[in-house]
Amino acid sequence: MLSEQQIQYELDYWLESTREQNDARQKRLLDLWGFRGAPSVLEIGTGPYGGCLPQIESGDKVAADPLFLQFEAAGLYVRSLDWVALPICIEAMEKWPEQCDAVLCANTLDHGDSDWSAVDIVARLLKPGGRFYLHVNLRTPEQLNEGHNHVLQYSDLEEAIQKAGLCRIRSEKYDYDPVEYADYETVIGIFEKPYAG
Ligand SMILES: C[S@@+](CC[C@H](N)C(=O)[O-])C[C@H]1O[C@@H](n2cnc3c(N)ncnc32)[C@H](O)[C@@H]1O
Repeated sequence: MLSEQQIQYELDYWLESTREQNDARQKRLLDLWGFRGAPSVLEIGTGPYGGCLPQIESGDKVAADPLFLQFEAAGLYVRSLDWVALPICIEAMEKWPEQCDAVLCANTLDHGDSDWSAVDIVARLLKPGGRFYLHVNLRTPEQLNEGHNHVLQYSDLEEAIQKAGLCRIRSEKYDYDPVEYADYETVIGIFEKPYAG
């Protein structure tokens, strides 16, 4: 559950940026991942415009973000026929009954209450052979604020990926954020859920 302070922080972020800036950011992200689509895609923490979903090919697109109702009240979210909006946070998807071919999660795991334990939930949401596309900032303690209240250590990521039973396809650690053009260490990676046996 996001606190009032965290909700306001997220809303301010979206109110202070434009749709065009958002679309350009999603394009940079998709280019870095080399992702163009999959039969079914879930994106977690999309923000009001559906994150990458409007720019990819997929028969089934779902956007999960706990703040869709607040985005709508602020005049930010416009209902789309192209993707389904779920007003839900990643932690609440632990027992979600459906699985998909790709889960995208950008600039979200260091927000709110989420952390590396969310990787376990992502793994459950993937079909065997499905892929997890991750972008995350690794803030230092000095870079924390009302919207980012915990430090994610790079050294814990590998353990979280292994514990979740995912395999690394590729990942890279940058000393800046090549998507937001911001001064945070950032990991961009792709991980796969193996077929059983
Ligand atoms: C900085 S925005 C990133 C949006 C988009 N993915 C991008 O990269 O442009 C972070 C988003 O994560 C959402 N968020 C925060 N905590 C979350 C959680 N626990 N589960 C899912 N989404 C969350 C916020 O509402 C916000 O829209």
